[in-house]
Amino acid sequence: MNMQVSFDATVTEQSLGELFNLPIPEEVTVGVMPPSPLTPRRIDDFVFRMEQVKLLTAFFCSPTPPLGGLFVHGPFGSGKTSVIEQFCARLGLPLVSCDWNYESEIEDLIGTRDIAFGDTAFTPGPLVEAMKNGHVLLINEIDRGRPSNLTGLHGILDGAPLTIRATNEIVQPHPDFRLVVTANSAGSGDRGGQYTGSVRKQDPAFLDRFVFLECVYMDEAEELELLMRKFPAFEGQLVHKLVEFANDTRAKAMDVAADLTIPVSTRTLLRCLWLAESYGISGITFAAQSLDILRPALEPTYLFRLDDVERAVAEKVLDSMMPNQVRLPA
Ligand SMILES: Nc1ncnc2c1ncn2[C@@H]1O[C@H](COP(=O)(O)OP(=O)(O)O)[C@@H](O)[C@H]1O
Ligand SMILES: [Mg+2]
Repeated sequence: MNMQVSFDATVTEQSLGELFNLPIPEEVTVGVMPPSPLTPRRIDDFVFRMEQVKLLTAFFCSPTPPLGGLFVHGPFGSGKTSVIEQFCARLGLPLVSCDWNYESEIEDLIGTRDIAFGDTAFTPGPLVEAMKNGHVLLINEIDRGRPSNLTGLHGILDGAPLTIRATNEIVQPHPDFRLVVTANSAGSGDRGGQYTGSVRKQDPAFLDRFVFLECVYMDEAEELELLMRKFPAFEGQLVHKLVEFANDTRAKAMDVAADLTIPVSTRTLLRCLWLAESYGISGITFAAQSLDILRPALEPTYLFRLDDVERAVAEKVLDSMMPNQVRLPA
């Protein structure tokens, strides 16, 4: 596979399987650019999933630019932002990111005219820079904004040039320019009641201009592997129990009949073990105890966020996490 930038002599072909630590035949290669100052910093122990890499490779590396943008959706802390950053880190792609919210306007992306020393000057926004220079523009939490504020992106998503109204400049899209957005819902609003008042239903015409990549929480074995790689001082059985606890909260959060709407995310797990390690809990063996030994780290990273009803459910799950129920991964 060739990158758009393949005329650049500095691009090297590298094995896709090796880059993403996945079982992909060696002859499948991809163009890798030398990192620029805008290329995200690489996290070596990032866990890539085959389905994600397949779609991301098509989106970023196909010889013809994609018809539209990429919409990454999934629950919080599941790796939406980081999978894009880490993909770009591996391929040396320059990435600019910004966060979207209820107050965001298209001008935040295109740029603003400011008055300085009695004169007005136009400061281009991240969209203009990305389109001109062939950067990846990542807009996080797109479903936190007002749908009507995004219609100004329709033309760009269709591959059209951007006209900057303030200056009348016409910006042609660089062939390497890509637009990626992340959101908790796939644009349909909050169906499960987890994001009440924050996630908004998006305009179907906007959504029609994207290819969708779902980012679910890692499966048990993948998550255990990640946590053990990051926190090797912990006993495997203990971490495995913690992952089981997280999965139980995730199942309950998906179940409208259960009184728990806040799941333990991958981000929460990483923070919990980080805190446990700082508290010196890592050396303790799990054998004769329950998951309760992690409580000093679990309270401030997760349990404090729950109201009384939700907490009672989480406590019940915690109580059931006894060592005799440990299932070792196959
Ligand atoms: N597949 C993964 N491999 C390694 N770390 C991960 C993975 N997915 C998520 N993480 C870590 O979990 C945390 C949350 O990820 P993030 O991308 O910010 O989630 P989201 O954007 O979905 O809220 C980050 O610290 C990230 O590095
Ligand atoms: Mg994110």
